[in-house]
Amino acid sequence: MSNVTQPSNSVTSCQVSTQRCVRVCQNRTCKKQGATKVLEAFTKLPVLGVTVTASGCLGQCGNGPMVLILPDMVWYSGVKPLEIPLLVEQHLLCGERVKHMLYYRFHTQG
Ligand code: FES
Repeated sequence: MSNVTQPSNSVTSCQVSTQRCVRVCQNRTCKKQGATKVLEAFTKLPVLGVTVTASGCLGQCGNGPMVLILPDMVWYSGVKPLEIPLLVEQHLLCGERVKHMLYYRFHTQG
């Protein structure tokens, strides 16, 4: 009988190894829009080489919760906790932007 266990939150589909930093705004307006739960959702899905940090105001108040991924300079707006697994898998692990979540002011959603 096999007794191999895997971490419940591991995603192994297509690892792109790039050092990245995810900044999740925790300032007043984004917090009112649910940014605390967005940050929590990121911390539940850790990715090797990716640092998740609470940030101060990212200057885009009212469009939050705002998430900025560095060094890619990719902005996501109106982020919901339920969208984090998709963002982690598609962007952080596979290196592809999640088009429908992109912040319209800085990116075309195509
Ligand atoms: S409060 Fe989040 S961008 Fe300003």
